Amino acid sequence: MGKTSERISGDLISSESNVDGAKVPFDNSAVSRRDAMRILAVGVAAATVTGAAGCRVAPYEHLAIEQVANVKPWMPILFTFPGNLPAILLDVDESAGGVGPKQSIVAFSALCTHMGCTVQLNSSLDLRGKTKCLVCPCHTSAFDPVQLGAAIAGPATYGLPFIDLEIRGATIYATRIRQGQPVFGRPIGERRG
Ligand code: FES
Repeated sequence: MGKTSERISGDLISSESNVDGAKVPFDNSAVSRRDAMRILAVGVAAATVTGAAGCRVAPYEHLAIEQVANVKPWMPILFTFPGNLPAILLDVDESAGGVGPKQSIVAFSALCTHMGCTVQLNSSLDLRGKTKCLVCPCHTSAFDPVQLGAAIAGPATYGLPFIDLEIRGATIYATRIRQGQPVFGRPIGERRG
């Protein structure tokens, strides 16, 4: 089962119980940043080429993250997917290609696509009118959770990997992860729109 949290930080410490009632902090010591990026890249690439190349890749094990009723607008829920890689679920309170009544519940890898630091929700940013972004504390790349995790500032050239979600009964499941969107052709600092 996944785990919930009120906040996400560089240390990724969960502060609330998960669906099972257990408190589960992310264990960043279990995997180095470089290893995590490599694992994620391989996993996303494998998911991407499945079918196109005709090869068979074992599907990700679907992961129960949280009850729908427990997801509140702009209250991050931390979990790990795939494996023990940090991920974040958000209700962005508007249609964003996700699940739920407003299609507003979305999830992303929490690993910055620049060099793999852990992004965190910043609710006080003023990035050309954008006040809520997932921001990397290392070199300040910013990602827009309303635009499928698109990179909108900083050195990152790819958006955050997007996690497919399904709702079964009252529970949200992670089912697979997709590569983030590239931002080719857009100058740094002007990546919106
Ligand atoms: S590691 Fe995130 S901006 Fe560099």
